[in-house]
Amino acid sequence: MLYYVLFIILAYLLGSIPSGLIVGKVFYQTDIREHGSGNLGATNTFRVLGKKAGIAVTISDVLKGTFSIALPFFFSPIEVNLLVIGVFSVIGHMYPIFAGFKGGKAVATSGGLVLGLSPLLFFIILATFFVLLYTTKYVSLSSIVTSFIAVMTSLVMSRFDLLILTAVLLTFIVYRHIPNIKRIINKTEPKITWM
Ligand code: G3P
Repeated sequence: MLYYVLFIILAYLLGSIPSGLIVGKVFYQTDIREHGSGNLGATNTFRVLGKKAGIAVTISDVLKGTFSIALPFFFSPIEVNLLVIGVFSVIGHMYPIFAGFKGGKAVATSGGLVLGLSPLLFFIILATFFVLLYTTKYVSLSSIVTSFIAVMTSLVMSRFDLLILTAVLLTFIVYRHIPNIKRIINKTEPKITWM
């Protein structure tokens, strides 16, 4: 029990690292929360600060999810449920203690968590995401549909642990994208221009 609490706290703190805020403030003297969608995630970093910063933030947000389960996998002296621990990195990413509890929309960190648990599922959803992004040009819509495909793929793979996890992540992602869904319906959601 003590180790669960320890690794859950570590996962939450890791997820709470506000990569977009750090990259923006340190390298561009810009607070991305004051620009674009105001979101602290990779998409808004691309939008406000450009490709280099966007790629850096995407990678670090993905790694937060992966490292949150790598820590207990390698260092826990008892067997712990990695899925339960990993979810807390996504919660940290959405509600970061280091950035006033206003963080990202769960996508990249969820991806990193899936990468650590099932590289096969990760590469399936990565390919799905880029096909959707190429055809729709909406990051938000591609993120939502990809997370739904992740649930379906887990079902097809008969991985019921992943099925529960991806269903939880889908719920987080849909909830955090409610403003985007409203903008898509109103046709005011911005499309990407670089693909
Ligand atoms: O992953 C976040 C993305 O789907 C939407 O971000 O900044 O356009 O609201 P944003």
